[in-house]
Amino acid sequence: MTVVSTRPFEGQRPGTSGLRKKVAVFKQPGYLENFVQSVFDSLEGYQGQTLVVGGDGRYWNDQAIQVILRMAAANGFGRILVGQDGILSTPAASCVIRKYKAFGGLILSASHNPGGPDGDFGIKYNIGNGGPAPEKVTEDIYARSQTITEYRSLEAADVDLARLGKTQLGGAEVEVIDSVSDYADLMGHLFDFDRIKAMFASGAFRMRFDAMHAVTGPYARTILEDILGAPPGTAMNAVPLPDFGGGHPDPNPVYADQLMAEMFGAKAPDFGAASDGDGDRNMIVGKRFVVTPSDSLAVLAANAHLVPGYAKGIRGVARSMPTSRAADRVAEAMGIECFETPTGWKFFGNLLDAGRVTLCGEESYGTSSDHVREKDGLWAVLFWLNLLAKRGESVEAILRDHWRRFGRNYYSRHDYDGLDTAVANDLMNALRAALPGLPGSRVGELTVESADDFSYTDPIDGSVSSKQGLRIGFAGGSRVVFRLSGTGTEGATLRVYLERFEPDPSRHDIEPQEALADIIQAAEALAGIKTRTGREKADVVT
Ligand code: G1P
Ligand code: ZN
Repeated sequence: MTVVSTRPFEGQRPGTSGLRKKVAVFKQPGYLENFVQSVFDSLEGYQGQTLVVGGDGRYWNDQAIQVILRMAAANGFGRILVGQDGILSTPAASCVIRKYKAFGGLILSASHNPGGPDGDFGIKYNIGNGGPAPEKVTEDIYARSQTITEYRSLEAADVDLARLGKTQLGGAEVEVIDSVSDYADLMGHLFDFDRIKAMFASGAFRMRFDAMHAVTGPYARTILEDILGAPPGTAMNAVPLPDFGGGHPDPNPVYADQLMAEMFGAKAPDFGAASDGDGDRNMIVGKRFVVTPSDSLAVLAANAHLVPGYAKGIRGVARSMPTSRAADRVAEAMGIECFETPTGWKFFGNLLDAGRVTLCGEESYGTSSDHVREKDGLWAVLFWLNLLAKRGESVEAILRDHWRRFGRNYYSRHDYDGLDTAVANDLMNALRAALPGLPGSRVGELTVESADDFSYTDPIDGSVSSKQGLRIGFAGGSRVVFRLSGTGTEGATLRVYLERFEPDPSRHDIEPQEALADIIQAAEALAGIKTRTGREKADVVT
């Protein structure tokens, strides 16, 4: 064992989802080591216990894993489960932590951020329930990282990550496990695989899944093609690459443009889906028809009883604050609880653990349930496949029926990327300062009904998270939310979330940007985005 002296690095505070920095930052000697040691130092009682380690396969994944294995062994973990070739999708890591009752896990991912030597890298700690560490843990880790003086490691050869099986590393046993099988088993218990298989076997149903050269390639091939019998090639871009083929592995209509072209083309398949860098996000598309993530959550909630794993009914739903309120309407109709949490999956953990909710979702292409404690891309795809097989209707028909029953929540998010941090902070501070005076005032044709800076009190442990986004509600149920991203690695990203409720089915066919035009204008009038940032329009509209 070696004890190495070190000095703190600035800025090791985990963001919305772990610590994310440029690869070059992570590669500084001691940078990763400091953070990992800070994680271990802020935990208690892990001696002899199990740690799960895996990542999304991005550039530097394999080297970082070797560092972590040596450090985990030197710090006294008894057993370390690591995905083959260092690969575990984020939901698969959550599944493995839960299944083997591990103490926790380290997941290496920067999600949908680009990879490669000039791209991003990331690491996050998940606790024993399989979910992201809550804020009190991440704050402890950060505090520790600011005073750290040494880290522990081992002098040992690299573990062969390609070969399944056990190796001794110092006092720990390292086991390389199949990255897919535990996760595939869990999916088989939740969904009616026979029914989905029959749908593919009929030949009348075609789908495309875009793995975006990221981690879900092998998962999609095994589950969709090998187990469910979808034709080979159903999963496209299915070979994971360390730089994701130079792309931006974020499943939205902008970045998954290859899939979108197909879904809107002449011979469009019936169903399309995509997932992100680490496999926790999902995008659902019908034939020439886009499903917003907020709507997807609402549809899954309304139809959960049709799926074996949820046939007994769902207990409640939770959505992040900026997510549209489509799911709230379903929860109300079903007479179940609905929770509004801050952005980030870590806020769902307590509600799931306490059995208060079964389904959760975020507008940022994240959906999942209590089967793991992360969002889960392929799970959502399989849920949709199960619904399509059971209802025998198209994606579009299911959505139109849903809107007829519950009304339609038109929704869009406008992102302004790479802003000067000071400019972005000024914009938010000015708007925050104006909030108290807004209720009752008119912005264009709209009347402000409410305005606040979202603060959340966790109903289970009472912890308070403040400054979680500025929300402005208008008479009639429309709303705009402003937030700064907590996952970026360069400058600031301003997210503007727009929503309008439309109960009238004869008005469910409007193009969303058009349906939201007055709210988009109001957002500009309230925040002065153009004048403050100099940007004429958003970089990414989803
Ligand atoms: C973004 C999304 C958020 C999601 C997170 C991790 O965070 O908005 O919903 O949980 O990525 O995937 P943000 O960059 O907005 O802080
Ligand atoms: Zn992700």
